[in-house]
Amino acid sequence: MAKGLDVGTMNILSARQEGTDTVFVQQRNSFVEIEYSDMAEQMLSQSDVLHIRKDDKVYVVGDDALDFANIFNKETRRPMQHGILSSDEKSAIPMMKLIIEQVIGEPQHPGERLYYSSPADPIDSDLSTLYHQKTLESLLNDMGYDAEPINEGMAVIYSELADNSFTGLGISFGAGMTNVCLAYYAVPVMKFSVARGGDWIDTEAAQATGTPVDKVTSIKEDDFELDFRTDVGGVEGALSIYYENLLDYVIEHIVNEVDEEDIEEGLDVPVVVTGGTASPDGFEDLFRDHLESAEIPFSVSDVIHAKEPMYSVARGGLVAARSDEEEPIGDSEPKTEPAEASEDD
Ligand SMILES: Nc1ncnc2c1ncn2[C@@H]1O[C@H](COP(=O)(O)OP(=O)(O)OP(=O)(O)O)[C@@H](O)[C@H]1O
Ligand SMILES: [Mg+2]
Repeated sequence: MAKGLDVGTMNILSARQEGTDTVFVQQRNSFVEIEYSDMAEQMLSQSDVLHIRKDDKVYVVGDDALDFANIFNKETRRPMQHGILSSDEKSAIPMMKLIIEQVIGEPQHPGERLYYSSPADPIDSDLSTLYHQKTLESLLNDMGYDAEPINEGMAVIYSELADNSFTGLGISFGAGMTNVCLAYYAVPVMKFSVARGGDWIDTEAAQATGTPVDKVTSIKEDDFELDFRTDVGGVEGALSIYYENLLDYVIEHIVNEVDEEDIEEGLDVPVVVTGGTASPDGFEDLFRDHLESAEIPFSVSDVIHAKEPMYSVARGGLVAARSDEEEPIGDSEPKTEPAEASEDD
């Protein structure tokens, strides 16, 4: 057996194979600190809410953090920022350990192969991914796994471009980052990230319109479409502007980063766009339009929108882990565990 793990700024997901099904388990990468009280004790003991108690504080982690934050009028906190462990959050590691244990469970046997996603170093900030990557590796190895990092963009290619000999450009538009990888027969020839994603869109749109960030995030995640018929001056109008700006920013960096010497003459490859930020209707068309007007040094045969943008990276990790174990890779339908992962159909 083998597993894939997507460690994201907003979501942590695992993927494993059960017969012909791929099973995903998902938790939000957030937590809330509440004072220990009889009421809190009662609520927690009656439910299977993920939590840890430390002295007179209780930490509720994962999906339930948001509900508890609302009940206790607290803010949720996030262990990661811009794709890596947050240096501002001292409790980051124990909180993520708890979430990761819940989504991956015990290894099926000691040394079970597990590939976890790790971003490429961002080219627009001096953040380094090394500490993040090594910390996760030792945390996962301590749990009994044989853990190996996989570049997030490469995971997208493993997940979505098997039919194209793992050749193409994979882009994961996440919360804290956007990860880009160009691979040629499963060999990455260029990879980078930018420290901008959905969080950046939310913060900018909130600032521009004087709206609380949480409100902007929920408007964006709820029925927002990139159709450019939306309200000028309103939140949706601002979201569209920053979406467009993020796409141009990413495409501009692709143009700069692809070294023509690394590219075979006449290279013609598909581009896959995925990640939570790629969810709104109209994203794929907008990306295609903007890519067409850019001067990238290879030709694009197709722009593909991943069917399940939230699951690509975890699935890619699973594909990599299974191919290490030399299990046959089946073309399988995803199956979601009740109350553990959610999927829009
Ligand atoms: N339906 C939706 N419409 C628009 N945005 C969405 C939607 N669903 C989720 N998002 C956004 O997608 C982002 C989360 O995506 P994803 O889970 O791919 O990121 P992540 O892997 O946690 O982050 P990263 O890869 O940057 O570390 C958030 O910014 C969230 O607001
Ligand atoms: Mg991600």
